[in-house]
Amino acid sequence: MDTAAVASLWNQNAENWTLLSRQGFDVFRDHVNTPGFLELLPDVAGLEGLDIGCGEGTNTRTVASLGASMQGVDVAERFVAFASEREARDPRGIRFQLASATALPFADASFDFATAFMSFMDLPEQGRALAEAFRVLRPGGFFQFSICHPCFHLRRFNWIRDEEGQRIGLDVGHYFDPPWGEVEEWTFSSATEEAKAALPEFAPFKVPRFGRTLTGWLDLIFAAGFQLERTAEPSASDEALAACPRLAHTRLIAFSLILRCRKPGDGQGR
Ligand SMILES: C[S@@+](CC[C@H](N)C(=O)[O-])C[C@H]1O[C@@H](n2cnc3c(N)ncnc32)[C@H](O)[C@@H]1O
Repeated sequence: MDTAAVASLWNQNAENWTLLSRQGFDVFRDHVNTPGFLELLPDVAGLEGLDIGCGEGTNTRTVASLGASMQGVDVAERFVAFASEREARDPRGIRFQLASATALPFADASFDFATAFMSFMDLPEQGRALAEAFRVLRPGGFFQFSICHPCFHLRRFNWIRDEEGQRIGLDVGHYFDPPWGEVEEWTFSSATEEAKAALPEFAPFKVPRFGRTLTGWLDLIFAAGFQLERTAEPSASDEALAACPRLAHTRLIAFSLILRCRKPGDGQGR
């Protein structure tokens, strides 16, 4: 599966993904991953940032609302269109454009920081994408990204349940497989039947996923030239659980891993 195949799948997913996530059905993103990501994010007010794999742009807009001057890129033109259309309706000063993480259309040292919310495990050339993130950062700048957790999001993944059917643990395997790529089919589990029926045409998402071990990821980060600065493994807070009880299983295992990496150099970007 190459970048063109990945872009084609995400273009197919884009409309339903946008419609459902904007109604609040991407509960893991909204209640677990993004809050954990923002907790780890340094102060970005007044900084120039790039969001890589921005999708329909909700998280780019959230970072912009913290005072950063943002640009967003995505490999799927339909996502870029949804993000741009919302920006035109309700401007946050963001420029969205079509581009691959593996060939960023920016000069060296263009940004103080970069983010990537749950996109780097969705692309096949992760080393090249990390090298590109490094290249476009100013010395001292940071790149913070979240991925499906490499220790739990594996090709063997089955919930272990108690007599009542409650999830109590996970049966995983194939951790040491060589870097792999697969297309997973699913939809947001909280999406109601009414919401699905209201879509122009419901189909499960076809999500490309590329996995490697934890040390495989760390090796790529170091090979790109980054220093690893902070990490986080978010799970549902008490408030998130009260708002969305179906997130209880995010306390059993870590679904995502957030990494903040620094490009060596003086200053905080500029
Ligand atoms: C799980 S979605 C996350 C979207 C968004 N960051 C969010 O948090 O809602 C993954 C995104 O990565 C994008 N993507 C996949 N491969 C890419 C690449 N090579 N370059 C840029 N974006 C890519 C997809 O098009 C998709 O929008």
